[in-house]
Amino acid sequence: MNYQIKNLLEYTNAYDKSVSNPEQFWEEIANGFQWKKKWDKTLDWNFDTPKLEWFRNGKLNLTENIFEKLLPTHRDKTAIIWEPNDPDAPSIHLSYGELYIETCKFANAMKAQGVQKGDRVIIYMPMVPEATVAMLACARIGAIHSVVFAGFSAAALADRIDDCQAKMVLTSDGNFRGNKQIQVKAVVDEALSKTDSVEKVIVLKRTGEDVMMHSGRDIWWDEAIAGQSEVNQAEEMDSEDLLFILYTSGSTGKPKGVVHTTAGYMLYTYYSFINVFQYQEDDVYWCTADIGWITGHSYIVYGPLLAGATTLMFEGVPTYPHPGRFWEIVEKYKVNQFYTAPTAIRALQVHGTEPVEKFDLSSLSVIGSVGEPINEEAWHWYHEHIGKGKCPLVDTWWQTETGGIMIAPLAGITPNKPAHASLPLPGVQPVIVDAEGNELIGNNVEGNLCIKFPWPSMIRTTYGDHQRCKDTYFSTYKGMYFTGDGVKRDHDGYLRILGRVDDVINVSGHRMGTAEVENAIDEHPEVVESAVVGYPHEIKGQGIYAFAICDSSEKSNEQLAEEIKQLVRKIIGPIAKPEHVQVVSGLPKTRSGKIMRRILRKVASRDLSNMGDISTLLNPEVVDEIIKGAGLY
Ligand code: PRX
Repeated sequence: MNYQIKNLLEYTNAYDKSVSNPEQFWEEIANGFQWKKKWDKTLDWNFDTPKLEWFRNGKLNLTENIFEKLLPTHRDKTAIIWEPNDPDAPSIHLSYGELYIETCKFANAMKAQGVQKGDRVIIYMPMVPEATVAMLACARIGAIHSVVFAGFSAAALADRIDDCQAKMVLTSDGNFRGNKQIQVKAVVDEALSKTDSVEKVIVLKRTGEDVMMHSGRDIWWDEAIAGQSEVNQAEEMDSEDLLFILYTSGSTGKPKGVVHTTAGYMLYTYYSFINVFQYQEDDVYWCTADIGWITGHSYIVYGPLLAGATTLMFEGVPTYPHPGRFWEIVEKYKVNQFYTAPTAIRALQVHGTEPVEKFDLSSLSVIGSVGEPINEEAWHWYHEHIGKGKCPLVDTWWQTETGGIMIAPLAGITPNKPAHASLPLPGVQPVIVDAEGNELIGNNVEGNLCIKFPWPSMIRTTYGDHQRCKDTYFSTYKGMYFTGDGVKRDHDGYLRILGRVDDVINVSGHRMGTAEVENAIDEHPEVVESAVVGYPHEIKGQGIYAFAICDSSEKSNEQLAEEIKQLVRKIIGPIAKPEHVQVVSGLPKTRSGKIMRRILRKVASRDLSNMGDISTLLNPEVVDEIIKGAGLY
């Protein structure tokens, strides 16, 4: 495979070149793609505005680099293997040729329903091949997709529809997840009752349950594609035309729409995929993420398909119908590269090694981790019992905003060190800074992680609010992209990510902003004020702990806590439901009125050491009450 690094020397050379001459480095990779017209300026940037343009005035269509470029050699190769939720139901193998036809038909169907280049399309679908088809069809016609994880609530979906003023929603009647059946269409209907930009909804029949179809607005998927041509002329896109928007939580306000554009994202997902996972032509690759997250976008759909890979999509959950399901699937399809999240590893670790040993995992050559820091215990368990001590374990650090993997071992090429993301990919220039923004040079240093030079798949803006993009990522440290993560460079020079340094909680690898959860809690009529913090959770990495001041004479604290949990579940979705809600009479505040989250974090973590000086608080007496209320003495 072109541009695949084969050994440590090639890595060092590629890295050095990517720093000394980044433009030339990326131009060479870009030259391997199909362009309708080549670019006239490779990179134009500043991190102040910020302005980020890669391959200016280049014209292309990303899907031509999957289909038109690859079909001559890959027409009959399996592009997607789909494993359904029910292990006894038939799986699906879609070849590149078949995927092309499905994409063209659906692209034509969307156009027939009035979608045009630049329109926003929400994808709220289960993990089925049609979800990938939907994304590719949008890219084909130049519509901007925004995939929303189908576990989000109607209110969260409505917010996203509204923010991007989506014209169309693609969904299903229902979803299967383990032994549950989720009524997805009903959620869409509720969301659409709160917004008015959506003109058409295309509904895939998945569970076969009865759903309401609004006449004039809703149309079944099968009817939409009936009679559509199997050919579609790809829209000509500019390098910097939007490919997709993906909403993610930050430390303030509502989730923001992270914007990714066409050419840079295409290049970087391809390049990082082939290098980190060392994919070889006949391999079967499996990433267990949901397409509702960036991992699904970059490493189920775009990266693998641009590389002509066979990518496996799994509809279900790791523990259904038994905790060996992942390993059963690895055996069934002889999976070579397996990419999952630490939270899944920890959840499966609880079941011991028996479910693992039932299956033949000898096909595996690379295993990967993403989404949160992987603790050493989980790393060793994964390495020993799944990788059998022989597979490189790539701990990949990256973010929705970075578009692709930034810091990770290249499997079998650069060193593997437990719980360390290790070294940057070529083209990535990480720096560690102290609180003042001074760069910390050398080994054995710890600070905040920034990136000092652009890479092709970086965030371009936050949809509809460029100032927010500037404030969130480019203002903390001048001239640098700030990741929000803490990092250590160890004595060998390898990077270890320490987790978020801002008010973002990472629950099972999913980002939740404290402000977002607090806003949901504050909707409760009896809640006066709330504060949310993360605390270490054995399986989820972090759990959500909420403190709420309530004004209620009738309800018990237990009742209020339960109502608050259910409310958050309803407003955001099950992933945001707090593990604990503690009703309190006050929150610890500084004299300027700022909540001292540090103290709340200590209480939530059940660790009262080093509480620091609380005498400067406005209301030091509440600390004692909170500690008692948490049952800590
Ligand atoms: O804190 C880091 C953590 O996940 C954050 C990004 O979350 P999100 O945008 O949802 O993307 C997740 C999938 C790419 C980061 O700021 N994170 C992600 N991967 C790792 C990680 N922390 C430590 N090690 C990782 N490998």
